[in-house]
Amino acid sequence: MSHIVAPSLLAADFSNLGSEVEMINESLADWLHLDIMDGVFVPNISFGFPVIEAVRDISIKPLDVHLMITDPDRYIKRFHDSGASNLTVHYETCTHLHRTVHEIRSLGMKAGVALNPHTPVMMLKDILPFIDMVLIMTVNPGFGGQSFIPASLNKVGELRSMIDEEGYDVLIEVDGGIDTQNAPLLVHTGVDVLVAGNTIFSAEDPESVINRLKALI
Ligand code: DX5
Ligand code: ZN
Repeated sequence: MSHIVAPSLLAADFSNLGSEVEMINESLADWLHLDIMDGVFVPNISFGFPVIEAVRDISIKPLDVHLMITDPDRYIKRFHDSGASNLTVHYETCTHLHRTVHEIRSLGMKAGVALNPHTPVMMLKDILPFIDMVLIMTVNPGFGGQSFIPASLNKVGELRSMIDEEGYDVLIEVDGGIDTQNAPLLVHTGVDVLVAGNTIFSAEDPESVINRLKALI
């Protein structure tokens, strides 16, 4: 399988959201990544249901929703109804993670679990059989435009081995500071999904950056 590219809308021009989504529609992007921040789990607030629903109505790409919110169980159904295809919760926010991912899957969404940079991949050992994706945060969550944390590469390699040894069907996604420089090594180490915000939306020609991220290796 060739890797997936998921532009992160957080870095888009929100005064021209329609044309930004249109650009993604016309590009080789596979998914559209939406960052939901509550100002509690992370020190920033992004956007909520009205924006997600507006994007859903015009996007032809599946919505990859990344929840950076405390107690995400309260809103699983709401995100489903708003158009999420993939729903990723943070390991650090879920006391009963097994129940949470079960509920996400029971609604027909792919269930993802995200790890902060300080959380070891080994913590996922017992949940891997029940999920579709792991999101390894390659910056501290909360803001776009930060620098990639190099040690994340070891986490990708470790997780790739854990998944392959057991033969699980689980995607590895990376998010934060991804660019055309570090992307090839990440994919080579075992990443399946590249999320990129500023690298894409700050470029003169965002569509060509998406196409370059797709054509790696
Ligand atoms: C950060 C978000 C990311 C962010 C990535 O907390 O989860 O998805 O939008 O932005 P860049 O690619 O600019 O680091
Ligand atoms: Zn994200």
